[in-house]
Amino acid sequence: MRTIKVELGEGAREDRSYDIVVDRGLLDRIGGAMRDMGFSGRCTLITNPTVGALYSGRVLESLKAGGLQPVVIEVPDGEEYKTLAEVSKVYDRLIEERMERGSAIVALGGGVVGDMAGFVAATFLRGVPFIQVPTTLLAQVDSSVGGKTGVNHPLGKNLIGAFYQPRAVFIDPDVLETLEERELKAGLAEVIKYGVIWDEAFFSFLEENSKALAGRGGDEIVTAIERSCSIKAEVVSRDERESGLRCILNFGHTFGHAIEALTGYTRFKHGEAVSVGMVMAAALSVSLGLTPERTMLRIRDLLVDMGLPVEAPGIDGQDLVETMRLDKKVRAGAIRFVLVEEIGSVVVREVEEERIKASFALLSACSGG
Ligand code: NAD
Ligand code: GLY
Repeated sequence: MRTIKVELGEGAREDRSYDIVVDRGLLDRIGGAMRDMGFSGRCTLITNPTVGALYSGRVLESLKAGGLQPVVIEVPDGEEYKTLAEVSKVYDRLIEERMERGSAIVALGGGVVGDMAGFVAATFLRGVPFIQVPTTLLAQVDSSVGGKTGVNHPLGKNLIGAFYQPRAVFIDPDVLETLEERELKAGLAEVIKYGVIWDEAFFSFLEENSKALAGRGGDEIVTAIERSCSIKAEVVSRDERESGLRCILNFGHTFGHAIEALTGYTRFKHGEAVSVGMVMAAALSVSLGLTPERTMLRIRDLLVDMGLPVEAPGIDGQDLVETMRLDKKVRAGAIRFVLVEEIGSVVVREVEEERIKASFALLSACSGG
């Protein structure tokens, strides 16, 4: 078992620090862990039918064994249900069940369930305690840690939300056994991101173990989850509200979000679009003279080894720039990017549109196109 602390808040009065616990089989020990944290009485397990069918029985047994009295609420499975309308139905159930301020919400699922349940916890009765039990690799290494919660709006993704930290994150790597391969790989893109932005030794570890990681079985995936979580914990501890450092977690995401938007959020999973976006961000870094070409090739080769896409054929460069210009991070014609200086070290720069377009030539030269 490994415990990673997310240090938050100064002084005992405002201490909102919490533990991320990573352990195989942890699903069966969540109730006991919550009891040890002081939880008792009624609580709500929020999940979806897919994850619920696989794992809610074990989690419910564990909660009961820990002395809790759980009620289950299911939200439909899918990004299209990450809406205020679905959240409102959850409020209805919580009110009908007469849940109180001390009644914890436990989120069991991927990032969709975690973001929605976290938003419910942040807003129901002005805030109830919240536990994350992430079940996709993306949720285990990214969305369950750091307190970003929320839902989508018809005009854009994640536009309604709150920063609201969980009281604990319980990660059981064994649940990845049932995850679809494409979902696992999408999560690996975010794992690779941590190596690029923070830790060259971790990036080398990923290079050396790419086959085992893509095969998910061994202890390598546990090491990858632990290191990813400790990097995210460190970044969030230093900049909880994304006033500076935290934006480095968006490496590859400016391009990635635009690719997702241009393809109607259907062709690429988020992690796949981030994979392509990381190669584009690396190419831009090379083209601006920030890093040698071998940095970009190293990133691209690792993504390919993990079975991730590194290009988005059919997407026009001009459309990509236009879409990024509409993104909220644009100031006076220059778009902000996280750019790589060397593996393990990134910088944030505003880049003129012409310079972005110039970097596309480098990409097509490397792909032979
Ligand atoms: P997801 O939650 O839609 O899960 C993907 C699919 O896998 C779903 O069908 C789900 O039911 C299924 N699933 C989950 N766990 C499973 C398991 N163990 N076995 C079998 N099937 C399983 O997708 P995701 O990639 O986990 O999350 C994407 C969401 O996360 C997006 O809404 C995104 O905006 C959000 N996100 C949030 C943050 C944050 O900081 N809060 C960061 C990144 C992404
Ligand atoms: N997923 C980026 C963040 O949590 O800040």
